[in-house]
Amino acid sequence: MTRPSSEPLIVADEISERVRELAETVSSDFAGHDLVLIVVLKGALYFGADLLRAMTIPAIVDFARIRSYTSTERSEKTHWLIRPTEPLAGRDVLIVEDVLDTGNTAATVRAFAREAGAATVKVCTLLDKSDTRIVDIQADYVGFAIPNTFVVGYGLDLSQKYRELPDIHMLTHD
Ligand code: IMP
Ligand code: MG
Repeated sequence: MTRPSSEPLIVADEISERVRELAETVSSDFAGHDLVLIVVLKGALYFGADLLRAMTIPAIVDFARIRSYTSTERSEKTHWLIRPTEPLAGRDVLIVEDVLDTGNTAATVRAFAREAGAATVKVCTLLDKSDTRIVDIQADYVGFAIPNTFVVGYGLDLSQKYRELPDIHMLTHD
């Protein structure tokens, strides 16, 4: 059976501390800008909410949902399930991702935002698996760099399970 390891990889306190730091940096970098956060569903739901709550500047929130993964199997293809609907023209867009893995998802959202006329498009990811990148995209803001391993918790799922766990865990098999 595959289940979350009993010893967490990143505990809730570390996550909230890092999210506070990211919120501070983002707030200072985008102060006075017309900022739109595009939260990538479903995984970045918790991170996006906590980031926005800790920010000291206003931002418009929108959502993107893209299918790029079936369980733990990687698919090179992405397709849109939910597109952002807020006007992006002339605005600064910050894509909020749970994990930057191959980069396909963030690159698809970035292309959408650029097409919609965004003034700037940046990426903020809670977790960065830089070893597995296929697409040429880098995060401008990274919570934690992690190795190429599947993780769950704090919004991240394995086949829709374990999002509710407060800590982030690797998986164990028995
Ligand atoms: P990418 O398009 O390959 O960069 O993958 C991004 C998406 O894959 C993320 O938004 C996640 O939903 C999912 N994903 C990638 N790695 C993990 C993981 O370790 N745990 C849970 N979901 C993951
Ligand atoms: Mg997912």
